[in-house]
Amino acid sequence: MSPERTVRQIPVGPMANFVYVLADGASGEALVVDSGWETGPILKVVAELRAKVKYVVASHEHFDHTSTLRELADATGAELVAHQASPLQCDRRVSDRETLKLGRNSVRVLHTPGHTPDSICLHDGLDLFSGDTLFVGTIGRFERSDADAIYSSLYETLLRLPDATMIYPGHDYGDVPFRTLGEEKRSNPYLMAGDIRRFRSLFS
Ligand SMILES: [Fe+2]
Repeated sequence: MSPERTVRQIPVGPMANFVYVLADGASGEALVVDSGWETGPILKVVAELRAKVKYVVASHEHFDHTSTLRELADATGAELVAHQASPLQCDRRVSDRETLKLGRNSVRVLHTPGHTPDSICLHDGLDLFSGDTLFVGTIGRFERSDADAIYSSLYETLLRLPDATMIYPGHDYGDVPFRTLGEEKRSNPYLMAGDIRRFRSLFS
């Protein structure tokens, strides 16, 4: 994605969710990551940017990210996109490493199972929209999460991205709303664990 892109982080709802609008400057095409609880704040940003929303993308199936996705897709004329493993009704199913085009730029889907089997992150070359896979200072673990799968997603996929990658998480759970992967590597205990044994011990 060229530097002429715009990223807008939008807080929505009572569970500290973050929704994102990523717009390509040259074409005006945009995608929205999740929709959370209400479409109003998202549509306001889209109108401000004069963007044409091409895709609304579910980072994963959980209701706090997806309950208004269809409403948003209908309001914008966008395609509703989710991973192949998602139970959500959608217009397009994507798999690992598939790309979504915004103008002449590509946004890559990274399948990062663990929080849920259908969890994906989106990488535009500069930014990572990390859903509930990686937060600032922590990760998206809950009672049904698969620790070994999260480990693989973090260590074999996300940690291979450049340190300068900006992490835009699905919730505002950290000290700051976004941070680089390099800073996460130095401060997030789950990324500092280093091996699967120590990583698993953080779950006990
Ligand atoms: Fe979630």
